[in-house]
Amino acid sequence: MAKAYGIVSAKGGVGKTTVTANLGAVLSRDFKKKVLAIDANLEVPNLHLYLDMLHLPLSLLNILAGEAPAAHATYTHSGTGLNIIPGSFADKRVDISRLKDIVDEVKGRYDIILIDSHPHADVETTGVMKASDELLIVTNPWLQIVTSNLVTVRLARDLGVPIKGVVLNKAERSEEEMSAKEVEDSLNLPVIARIPADIKVYRGVEKRTPVVVETPNSPASKAFRDLAQALLA
Ligand SMILES: Nc1ncnc2c1ncn2[C@@H]1O[C@H](COP(=O)(O)OP(=O)(O)OP(=O)(O)O)[C@@H](O)[C@H]1O
Ligand SMILES: [Mg+2]
Repeated sequence: MAKAYGIVSAKGGVGKTTVTANLGAVLSRDFKKKVLAIDANLEVPNLHLYLDMLHLPLSLLNILAGEAPAAHATYTHSGTGLNIIPGSFADKRVDISRLKDIVDEVKGRYDIILIDSHPHADVETTGVMKASDELLIVTNPWLQIVTSNLVTVRLARDLGVPIKGVVLNKAERSEEEMSAKEVEDSLNLPVIARIPADIKVYRGVEKRTPVVVETPNSPASKAFRDLAQALLA
């Protein structure tokens, strides 16, 4: 039975999709796990673009609407074996509360399920959290982003969904940014990964190839492997 991890953050652009793509890629390719990544960001669904998987006919919306079974909207990334259910733009309000049923239904087929989400702490975030067994909160090491995520922590606690830890992404060791210890103290949670800010990560998104595929020995790729290890430990 798979464990489902929601990848959440109150803020946009912190790296939720980058973490989902790279973590999913290393878990599949390096750790030989059966992994499904679901793009539950209904605002800006772009996980498939980060993996160069274009023109996919079905998406999570078709599954949520009961128009297709999950298996029909599941596609495999050729470079890594990572399976994804892509998102697509919602032109009308979608009932995200069914996500939990969908995740529960497919759990038997995978070792790990990753659920990418949109920023905020709203009804969609609630749907993602309720579908998750544990959460990873993605933040950057900047005070305003870290403190915004107090709302994410509170929502998770209100829903009773455990938080595995914080992924501190785009870390640079500058004097202005918060240290891992300061982030831990602010959110009262462990930092389980520290991913460096690295132009190679950015270029990976531009080239639609995750950094762990393009430059597997870069420090950022190593950090993604360490994160995978932490989830499997
Ligand atoms: N460690 C990193 N180093 C350098 N650039 C990064 C890193 N992580 C993410 N980025 C870049 O930051 C941008 C935002 O990343 P991403 O799309 O993963 O964020 P997001 O949290 O999913 O955003 P949204 O909330 O809009 O879905 C992208 O251009 C990505 O390439
Ligand atoms: Mg995203």
